Amino acid sequence: MPTIHHHIAYLREALKPYRSQQCIALVPTMGNLHDGHLELVRLARQHADIVVVTIFVNPTQFGVGEDFDSYPRTLDADVAKLATVGTDYVFAPTSDEMYSVLPPPTSIHAGAITDQLCGQTRPTHFDGVGIVVSKLFNIVQPDTAIFGQKDYQQLAIIKQLVRDLSYPIEIISAPIVRAIDGLALSSRNQYLSSAERNIAPLLQQELQRLAKQLKNSEHLGLDIEILIKQSRKRIISAGFNIDYLEIKTAQLEPITAGLAKNTNNAPQDLIVIVAAWLGRARLLDNLLVTVH
Ligand code: PAJ
Repeated sequence: MPTIHHHIAYLREALKPYRSQQCIALVPTMGNLHDGHLELVRLARQHADIVVVTIFVNPTQFGVGEDFDSYPRTLDADVAKLATVGTDYVFAPTSDEMYSVLPPPTSIHAGAITDQLCGQTRPTHFDGVGIVVSKLFNIVQPDTAIFGQKDYQQLAIIKQLVRDLSYPIEIISAPIVRAIDGLALSSRNQYLSSAERNIAPLLQQELQRLAKQLKNSEHLGLDIEILIKQSRKRIISAGFNIDYLEIKTAQLEPITAGLAKNTNNAPQDLIVIVAAWLGRARLLDNLLVTVH
């Protein structure tokens, strides 16, 4: 079983002996773990001698009226799952342990990258992610940290944070783990009714369809906006409420007209990315596609 710590000082003390010789991996989570999280831990295990998983429902990344209070907290079940994939330490602090004042007067703002996509409807979300991840990096001081591609914008922001603040940490990204029907696993999927759960995989199917259309060179001359408009229509008629559905470069930059027509014939890495509400659940998904 992993050793559980609730206090920063005790975790730091426990990790001290490993620092000089061994490689420490960090997997930050908000708990209520599913196989997507466990895959991150398996990856961590491959890259490090010591694996630290943090479980903390971080208040600073939830906006007013969001699901902070109802977010599922299942520590005992999480620890039991983590024991099956080789976790050495679980760090599960209280909010008081992490923040002596809420909101903390210090902020981490990652700039323009946070204004788009999820940032449009959740304007303070990534500042909250920025401060908690910075704190976890400082507390654990890992050699590597694992994040899922499922939260693609978060991953991009964390890579930028590591660059800008010179954290000596290698960021490893883990592919999206899906249910058999294609729905990306998420702790928030349990907010879906069984009827909604049956509809939910349509989101992934639409991403696949868009990726295929992009890959099909005949369509490259086509206006990407038209493809998106058609896709939006299908998603909305299935019962979703779309926050955004966009196609961007893999670096989350806008696709210029020239790139869209692929005039230079160089392969382009694009991302098809979506956030949409189905009932009480806000679902996120994305698909990377290389267009030749
Ligand atoms: P949480 O939503 O618990 O996710 C923790 C990590 O698991 C993130 O890196 C996320 O991208 C990854 N993950 C979630 N579902 C996944 C799936 N189906 N396949 C692969 N990876 C998946 O993301 C957060 O928590 C928080 O914002 C956090 C980074 C912990 C900061 O509070």
